[in-house]
Amino acid sequence: MASICFLLTLLGYLSFVAGSLVPQEGHPNITHSLNVSTCPGYTLHSLLETDTGISAWLGVAGPACNAFGRDVVNLTVEVTYEISTRLHVNIFDTANAQFTIPESVVPLESGSTAINKNNSDLQFNFEVSPFAFWITRRSAGSDNHTESQPLFDTRISSLPATPISPVIPLDNSTALDGFPLVFEDQYLQLTSALPLNANIYGLGEIIASSGFRRDVGANGGNGTIQTMWARDITDPIDQNIYGVHPVYMEHRFDEATQKSQTHGVLLFSASGSDILLLTPPSFNTSLIQYRMITGTLDLYFFSGPTPQTVIEQYGQLIGFPTWQPYFGFGFHLCRWGYSNVSETKEQVTKMREAGIPLEVMWNDIDLYHAVRDFTTDPVSFPASEMKAFIDELHANNQHYIPIVDAAVAKQINSSDIYDPYTRGVELQTFMKNPDDSEYIGQVWPGYTVFPDWFSKNAETWWTEALKNWSQSAIDFDGIWLDMNEVSSFCTGSCGTGADLSNTTIPGLFLPGTPESPVVDYPEGYDSSKWGPSGNVSINGTLTFGSDTPIPPMLLKRGLGAGKQSGISVNDPPYAIHNGNGPLSVHTLATNATHANGLIELDTHNLHGLMETKATHQALLSIHPSKRPFIISRSTTLSSGRYAGHWLGDNFNTCGFIGNTDEELCNRWMQLSAFMPFFRNHNQRGALSQEPYRWDSVAEASRKAIGVRYQLLPYWYTLFANASMMGTPPIRALFYEFPDEPELFSVDRQFLIGREILITPVLTPNVSTVNGIFPGRGTVVWRDWYTHNVVNTTNDGSTTSLPAPLGHINVHIRDGSVLLLHDKPVYTVTETRAGPFALLVCLSNDGSAFGTAYIDDGETVPPTPNTTLTFEASKGQKLELSPKGSFRISQTLETLIILGVPREPAQILLNGQRVHSNSWKYIAAQEKVVLTGMNVNLNILTRISWS
Ligand code: NOJ
Repeated sequence: MASICFLLTLLGYLSFVAGSLVPQEGHPNITHSLNVSTCPGYTLHSLLETDTGISAWLGVAGPACNAFGRDVVNLTVEVTYEISTRLHVNIFDTANAQFTIPESVVPLESGSTAINKNNSDLQFNFEVSPFAFWITRRSAGSDNHTESQPLFDTRISSLPATPISPVIPLDNSTALDGFPLVFEDQYLQLTSALPLNANIYGLGEIIASSGFRRDVGANGGNGTIQTMWARDITDPIDQNIYGVHPVYMEHRFDEATQKSQTHGVLLFSASGSDILLLTPPSFNTSLIQYRMITGTLDLYFFSGPTPQTVIEQYGQLIGFPTWQPYFGFGFHLCRWGYSNVSETKEQVTKMREAGIPLEVMWNDIDLYHAVRDFTTDPVSFPASEMKAFIDELHANNQHYIPIVDAAVAKQINSSDIYDPYTRGVELQTFMKNPDDSEYIGQVWPGYTVFPDWFSKNAETWWTEALKNWSQSAIDFDGIWLDMNEVSSFCTGSCGTGADLSNTTIPGLFLPGTPESPVVDYPEGYDSSKWGPSGNVSINGTLTFGSDTPIPPMLLKRGLGAGKQSGISVNDPPYAIHNGNGPLSVHTLATNATHANGLIELDTHNLHGLMETKATHQALLSIHPSKRPFIISRSTTLSSGRYAGHWLGDNFNTCGFIGNTDEELCNRWMQLSAFMPFFRNHNQRGALSQEPYRWDSVAEASRKAIGVRYQLLPYWYTLFANASMMGTPPIRALFYEFPDEPELFSVDRQFLIGREILITPVLTPNVSTVNGIFPGRGTVVWRDWYTHNVVNTTNDGSTTSLPAPLGHINVHIRDGSVLLLHDKPVYTVTETRAGPFALLVCLSNDGSAFGTAYIDDGETVPPTPNTTLTFEASKGQKLELSPKGSFRISQTLETLIILGVPREPAQILLNGQRVHSNSWKYIAAQEKVVLTGMNVNLNILTRISWS
């Protein structure tokens, strides 16, 4: 799984990846025709307008179409100008029966604030009948070419249906016949125009064949169906996977002015949904269409106007990424298949012997007794030995992290004592069937139950279980949350009425492989009648409309909702393009019921988040004031507030599925050293791939980890900025250079912060790599290792760079000042205790700027901290100003200034001349190097040279 990033910590955020319509193996064969052209839309009947927003009441504009459920007759639209950069448009059923994300689950920085609309960057505009709205920038005037088209425009709903059918071939057969606003109990649809071939990023989580920039179906593209349904699946291309992030960013570039502006749109929803990006043949716009099976149309618009500010504004609403402990940036080693404690310990020894820094050792489910959470196997991982092992790691300034699976083993009988289960039963913390009986699925341990995160005791029970585990044997430093989409290997409550002592799970267990096809359907689904797709269709046409009886309305959620007669919540009328087909395959059935009566249909996408929140709280209670270190496989809106993320079961890297080889592992170790989360994790049964296994990989790893550890103060500052302001640490090139269209699709290079450009090798058997150097010749890029200036082009074309095996290209942008660890050593703690270095990279006008955020690296803020600001000017001086109360104990040992055209006659520190033996000038790189400085950073305010 090459778990190379906290992506969701940093994009927490924004899983900016892509999708397409190319049918994939295992993709459900959608054979229906979606015809909503007969849906009447809505008319605005009354309106209350204030300085801060609008309340409007809509009524259905004609006979109900009941396309995929029952039309909701009365809607309310609440428009709130919340802050100058954020506009909230919430369209909901006036009766408030639809599910909305509870505030307790995702508290928003919203609702309590409102501003005068004249102070907003954004403007809400509407039409009465059919009701439609569009969002513009207040600043958009005649001179503002980029924004002459609204940012979001649902007037598409009033377009006639006829000339545009069929519009988008969904698996070659679905036609989409018009764009009215549809608001039903089990189907909602909203369509907005986008600029033709718009630059859209986001709508994760997905691994996209089209790349980072989404395929909107223009210029020969297929368009995109992004399905939002959290799913445990060995990373497929272009299908829904573990997380759900219905947020996108649109970047508009105006050819005439050569300027860009960016905005963002969030659908605040946990609904199972399809989000389509398409360009109908006869249209001069592209479109985005939301198709949801529950919930409301709750939209937030962020005005940007840059990619970075959009991300910050999004974070400001849903919460900024959690504070990471310093050790989390070290190198992590893991595999499924360390079958006992000795084998685990051996890795730690071998890594040390090879001189490859190892910060955190991990164990997978091998650790468990009978694959049960919160246990250690008495034979292979005896508690006493594990305790001693973890103590030893801690004594060596290293750390330990175990896995926690989402499902909890079912205790079979009274002699089979398993406290986490019995205690959960006692506290009523598990999911139920609609008839109130225990819901029993199957995961690794056999029959399992599932925490009900809406039950009132769930968090207490979870904390207790983690605390007991931590105190008895596994004094962990963090937790790895797996299988929390939530995964279940059988369909429905398969343990109900089954022989529970039979723990054999049929076809274990890579679903979707030829040996293990997924053939189960939810209760009530008749595949002999409806076929394999999961769509409730007859002869290829969905069963809605006048020919079929109108189904009852789905009641307001509450106890019993999962068993409302006449409605099967296990097979909603509209089948989203879930890669597994029916919604309940490989997860809980959607009629599984929570303590408060909520049904899984509404809450499925929140499971990972709620488990993550509970774990975050538990860790705070176990180690008060220490920053919890957590990665979670399933994430959604706001997960980044509590945890990071890893990429799940990706293929054939020095990451997870399949065997790696020396070359790939070499490249992978080097690339991953420049990702926020740096872990080598391997699949059970695959070739061993620890970095010490091959000499070349060991050498490449030592080199790349060395650079990473030098850069730790920089990484740490970037993450502090993410936690304080939402600024993304990892950036696409166009985030920093938004007016250079050649960068809009670049996803084979990335920036760490503003300054560090990474150009990895992503193809086998090559010794050069092509990279683009943003700035079109106006930026000086220097090689990290040699400090040589790169000969870049000024037309946005690529430059060929040497990239022999064992070398990753890293370049530094001019105008930067980086605080570094001077000489990284084996662990992060020891590295941190050592002295600092400063790298100043002057731009052509002699200026440079940087900051460094420093605190103790482990206490939950607010905690004493100091920000050092570095500002170079006129090519002659660097001013340093510390602000804050954290005392920096490390000294500054080395200073490198790049871009000094002539050898200085003297160098002064705080006005004192530095002896000429202590520095040198290297003309080839225009470089001044001071060594052995031993200067107290709390009092150094000025370095000058002339
Ligand atoms: C699935 C996870 O994605 C993978 O990382 C882990 O090794 C296996 N489960 C076994 O726990």
